[in-house]
Amino acid sequence: MDLSLMQKRYHVTTFGCQMNEHDSERMKGMLESLDYRAAEEQADADVILFNTCSIRETADSRFVAHLGHAKRVKKERPETIIGVGGCWAQSLKDEVFQQFPFVDVAFGPGQVHKLAEFLTSDSLTAQGYFEFEGFAGDLPDKRTREHQGWVQISVGCNCNCSYCIVPQTRGRESSRPFDGVVREVERLAGEGVREVTLLGQNVNAYGRDLRDAGGPRTFAELLAAVDGVEGIERVRYTSPHPKDMKEDVILAHAQLASVCEHIHLPLQSGSTPILKAMRRTYNRERYLDRVALIREHVPDCAITTDIIVGFPGETEEDFQLTLDVCEQVGYDGAFTFVFSPRRGTEAALITEGLVPHEVKVERMERLVEVVQRRAHERAQRFVGRTMEVLVEGTSRTDPSRLRGRTRHNKAVNFTGLAQPGELVMVEIERATSQTLAGAESLLARAGAGVG
Ligand code: SAH
Ligand code: SF4
Ligand code: F3S
Repeated sequence: MDLSLMQKRYHVTTFGCQMNEHDSERMKGMLESLDYRAAEEQADADVILFNTCSIRETADSRFVAHLGHAKRVKKERPETIIGVGGCWAQSLKDEVFQQFPFVDVAFGPGQVHKLAEFLTSDSLTAQGYFEFEGFAGDLPDKRTREHQGWVQISVGCNCNCSYCIVPQTRGRESSRPFDGVVREVERLAGEGVREVTLLGQNVNAYGRDLRDAGGPRTFAELLAAVDGVEGIERVRYTSPHPKDMKEDVILAHAQLASVCEHIHLPLQSGSTPILKAMRRTYNRERYLDRVALIREHVPDCAITTDIIVGFPGETEEDFQLTLDVCEQVGYDGAFTFVFSPRRGTEAALITEGLVPHEVKVERMERLVEVVQRRAHERAQRFVGRTMEVLVEGTSRTDPSRLRGRTRHNKAVNFTGLAQPGELVMVEIERATSQTLAGAESLLARAGAGVG
C-alpha cells in the first residue's frame, strides 16, 4: 500500500508581517513532525489553517472572505479541521467560535505549539488557546527559502502606540534567551542559510528583561554574537524603534562585516504633536538626529520606513512636516498606510479632528509621489557600481534572468548563471525606485570588498 496516501495533509494561508510568515513556518514544521505533509490546495487538506493579521481593517476583511471558502469545504467534508491562528484570532478570542461556528481550533501567536496538543488529542469540541507565555520555546520550522532564515529574538511589545493592536495580540515583551538565539543561528548556518533576519516588534529593546546567565544583554551584543557565526554572511533585523536606536547598534552596521547596510526606521509621522498623540515617545528632532547618526557612521546605509497618513488630528501643516522629513531623509523605500481605527486601541476612541476619507486619499497620493521620487533619485547612486547580490531565484518578470538582493535590500534582476544561495557580484546598469537591473560580473568575486 502507498503509505503517502494515508498521511494527513495540511494547508496554511498566511496574512500579515514577517513575524506571521515565520510563525507559519513553525506551524508547518510542527505539522511535519506530526507526520502531516503539505497539500497544494485547501480542498485536498485534512487540516486547513489560517494565520491571521489584524493590523488594519483591510487585513480583517481579506481574511474573512477566505474563511467563507473554508466553510464550504467543511460542509462538504465535515471531518476537515479548520484552524485559525495569529493576531486576529487573539484579538477576538472565544468570539471566533461564536462568529464562525465551523472553526475547530483557534490560537494566538504565542500558542502555535498548542496546535500539536489539539491535533493529537481526541477532543471533539472546539478549543481556543490564547495565553501569553513569554517566549514559548524552540519549534522546528519549515523554511520557505533555503538560504534565508528568520530568527525570532523576542515576542510581544511594551510600547503603547495609540493606533496599534499588536500589544493586545502579542502581549508583553519577552526576550528569547541569548544562547538560544545564537544556537538557532548556528543550526541555520549548518543547514546552508547565509542570511538571517532577526525578528521582534522592537528589536533594539532586546535583552533588558533577560535574567539568564549573566543578566541583561543588549541588542548590539546579540548582533556581534550572530555576526561571529561561521557561514552567516548577512544579518538583518526588523523593526527597531527610533526611541531605542542607540549608537552601539548603528556602529554595529559600520563594524561588523555581516550586518547589512540597511536600517528600517519607522517614522509614522514627521510632526511632533502627531507623534505625541501616537504615543511614539520621540519627536521629529530625535528622529532626524538618529538619521544623522546613521549617515555619520554608515554614509551609504539604505534607510526605509513606515508612515501613517490621516491619524486623527493630522492637519495639512502636520502632513507637510511628514513630507518634509521624506524630502530630507530621502528614504530608499517606505511602506505607507492610511490610518485605520482598531478595536481596543486608544486612537480608535478619538472623535475630534478625524480626517475625511478624501483627504486621506489625497495625502496618500502626495506622500507616495515624494517617497517614490526620492527613492528613485537615491537608487541612482548604485548605477555603475559592482555590488554583492545574494541570488534568490529566477526573475519574476523575465525567466531568462536571475533575481536577488543587495546588502542594501534592493531587489536586483540580472543576467547571469549563478545558483540560488550564491553570493555573486553584479554590475548595476539601471535603477528605478523599487529595483535594480544589471549583469553578473565574471571578473569581480563576491566577498572581495567591492560595492
Ligand atoms: N513593531 C513594528 C511594526 C508594527 S506594524 C514597528 O513599530 O515598527 C507595521 C506598521 O503598520 C507600523 O509601523 C505602522 O506604520 C502600521 N500600522 C500599525 N497600526 C496601524 C493602524 N491602526 N492604521 C494604519 N497603519 C498602522
Ligand atoms: Fe505597535 Fe508601536 Fe509596538 Fe510597533 S512599537 S508593535 S507600532 S505598539
Ligand atoms: Fe504582524 Fe499583523 Fe500581528 S502585522 S504582529 S500579524 S497584527
